Amino acid sequence: MERLRAAIVGTGGIAGAHARALRAYPDQVDIVAATDVDAGRLEKFCGEWSIDGRYASLAEMLASERLDLVHLCTPPGVHAADAISVLEAGATVVCEKPPCLSLAEFDRIAEVEQRSPGHFVGIFQHRFGTAAKAAKQIVDEQRMGRPMVAVCHTLWYRDDAYYEVEWRGRWDTEGGGPTMGHGIHQIDLLGHLLGDWEEISAHAPRLARDVETEDISVAYMTFANGAVSTIVNSVLSPRQESYLRFDFALGTLEVTHLYGHRLNSWRYTPAPGADEKQPPWPPQGADVPSSHQAQLGEVLASIRAGERPPTTGAGLRRTLEIVTGIYASAFTGQRVRRADLTAANAFYHHLNGSAPA
Ligand SMILES: NC(=O)c1ccc[n+]([C@@H]2O[C@H](COP(=O)([O-])OP(=O)(O)OC[C@H]3O[C@@H](n4cnc5c(N)ncnc54)[C@H](O)[C@@H]3O)[C@@H](O)[C@H]2O)c1
Repeated sequence: MERLRAAIVGTGGIAGAHARALRAYPDQVDIVAATDVDAGRLEKFCGEWSIDGRYASLAEMLASERLDLVHLCTPPGVHAADAISVLEAGATVVCEKPPCLSLAEFDRIAEVEQRSPGHFVGIFQHRFGTAAKAAKQIVDEQRMGRPMVAVCHTLWYRDDAYYEVEWRGRWDTEGGGPTMGHGIHQIDLLGHLLGDWEEISAHAPRLARDVETEDISVAYMTFANGAVSTIVNSVLSPRQESYLRFDFALGTLEVTHLYGHRLNSWRYTPAPGADEKQPPWPPQGADVPSSHQAQLGEVLASIRAGERPPTTGAGLRRTLEIVTGIYASAFTGQRVRRADLTAANAFYHHLNGSAPA
């Protein structure tokens, strides 16, 4: 089996998780190159991970290397332009969250993706691992009955020093506050499990941090299947927690974690009268935690099979739609329907609702 050739763009904080994930599949993929605008960081990273191809820019890297996979580990403001360059070069993009700054950018990427042999894959690692995959199957097969109520909390803490990194807390570089930057992980899993949404009402104030964006958001959302959910995203919560709860007709399924879950992060409570002989939880088999490695394993398997990888297309767009709906509702004071988020809506272009440039 010929190994795939991978490269990393942006060698800062999260790049190590990508390198570790890639190195977990040595018989399938090699890391052949990396690029960063910071030459010192690039050298250090390539030294640590023994990467030979070192480039000052993505353009130079794409011109010099034959690549199958390019991992974007850069700040969100550059994801769209770089994703388009990579797709035009014929490679698959594995892009850190958030996938890009707006639905407008997402749709531009999708247009290029259609004519490229590559795919645009968004990193949302919490959809992966044993428990999340089993939860998805249970919902799809209706083994806990109809979903009715969900709770989706990302209650994290980020101090003033965190926002000294120049790209954070700004609309044009981070793309939003905790809704876009942090809660998006839980929002992704919520939408992945419960499907398409219909309507959102939200508030997104800035209470404490010296940033352009919100530092907390609170939303109420309805789904096409009739389920309702509350969503809270915060960077002001000293006791940190990521929490998702699903109340189905036949039981409650909850996951409590911070940056990654495994089987013992989940709890199942049957409804009175639920079938005790064949409980739908816990799933059997190995306990694979949610992680970049778990997601990458599935991406590689799909590429090998000539199939579109998971976390692409409409399922990826939905996560950005929910985030957009939260901002659109919060900043207009109106309820927002999914159908409202067309190119005629300012929030389709910019998540703070500013007019298109
Ligand atoms: N999935 C997760 O759990 C997770 C966790 C943390 C961060 N992230 C995401 O990863 C991305 C990067 O975050 P980070 O914390 O690693 O940031 P960082 O600031 O630590 O690293 C970003 C790197 O990109 C480089 N860079 C900036 N612009 C560039 C360009 N045009 N070309 C090449 N290199 C460029 C910077 O010099 C820096 O080395 C963000 O989108 C963030 O939201 C995801």
